[in-house]
Amino acid sequence: MLGVTGGIAAYKSAILVRHLCNAGAEVQVVLTQGAAQFVTPVTLQALSGRPVRDDLWDPEAEAAMGHIELARWADLILVAPATAHFMAELAQGAAPDLLTTLCLASDAPVLLAPAMNQAMWRDAATQRNAATLAADGKRLIGPAEGEQACGDVGPGRMAEPEALLEAVQAAFLSPRLAALNVLVTAGPTREALDPVRFLSNHSSGKQGYAIAKAAAEAGARVTLVSGPCGLPAPANVECIEVTSALDMHEAVQARAAEQALVIGVAAVADYRPATQALQKIKKDSAGRGAAEPPAIALVENPDIIASVAALPNGPVVVGFAAETENALDNARRKRRRKGLDAIVVNDVSNPKIGFNSDHNAATLIWADGEVELAYQGKETLAASLIQHLANLFFPSSGEGAGAVAKPTPLSVARSGRS
Ligand code: C5P
Repeated sequence: MLGVTGGIAAYKSAILVRHLCNAGAEVQVVLTQGAAQFVTPVTLQALSGRPVRDDLWDPEAEAAMGHIELARWADLILVAPATAHFMAELAQGAAPDLLTTLCLASDAPVLLAPAMNQAMWRDAATQRNAATLAADGKRLIGPAEGEQACGDVGPGRMAEPEALLEAVQAAFLSPRLAALNVLVTAGPTREALDPVRFLSNHSSGKQGYAIAKAAAEAGARVTLVSGPCGLPAPANVECIEVTSALDMHEAVQARAAEQALVIGVAAVADYRPATQALQKIKKDSAGRGAAEPPAIALVENPDIIASVAALPNGPVVVGFAAETENALDNARRKRRRKGLDAIVVNDVSNPKIGFNSDHNAATLIWADGEVELAYQGKETLAASLIQHLANLFFPSSGEGAGAVAKPTPLSVARSGRS
């Protein structure tokens, strides 16, 4: 069931209906009164092939399929766009119209794609409602950041129809990694110079934590080996906190043999200082004058995922590549050089994605194919990545049941590359 509420992003719902139907879903569109101001029932009826429902009090429609029956019919409810007003009603448990009533009456998972002006999204009341809805088990997808129809720039754009389709497919496919052991590395490493200083990088850990969470939601037993990033461990994930690349290497090596899948998302320092001073390095220590800067000699750290990939009968190993130029070519080479089964590449020269952002866009590359993961929140990208990895490397780990019978990768998988 696709609920459409009254925001300008409703024009994209028409494309979403098309994507969902092409993926094999039966789509029942439910419009609110506001939505009908932006997009006509005739358009959505033509695209979905079913009469649109928009009225709780329509005797004819109720006679054909009453609203409780309709609520039971839905395998999943996606509301896109979800306005601030609709979210407020749903958070309250109010049911003044057909769509809110259906959401209350249905046991199906509810996905929401918020879309509104950036100030409305940032407003304390909307944030409170979003938190309430998430705590009630509704899944929020987006909003994305960027230019808005009203001319503002900021968070509040509806997630793109392609990302919403991925989220719907992911919901039908889990759990796909049931009872498999999955280890994820995440965050930066810190390479100590002395007791108070270290070399590190800007990795926030957000993408790695989102992948650990998505793997756990897909039924896996997940171990997260994390460098220092201050994020709370996701539910049902065993988190092992480490500091340096050597610590991370040791923690991963100790657990590698029992894993089915290892995903290296950590931004591991390639080098560490050759020596670690026992006492704080002073400006004028070790015979240097205060004006003479100390030189830092570096030695190479072990490549953590390459050493897992080299294990005989080892797990499936997936790496990440943050690139700033020739991203795809560099990543293809890196995958082969490290002996990885797959690599996820993103172009971190794009300020909208990567290190500290909540969003990402990437390409998953394996031996004989590639698939693009559209620009979206790191959480939905993680869920989509996990489903692709499950399809590619663990195809017999339990196909989910549901209306979207056949998982079709959202973007074209280009086969034939190695
Ligand atoms: O070579 P580069 O650092 O770009 O490779 C990135 C990938 O390799 C990531 O998956 C990262 O977690 C992993 N890596 C590692 N150990 C290192 C360096 C990188 O596991 N020492």
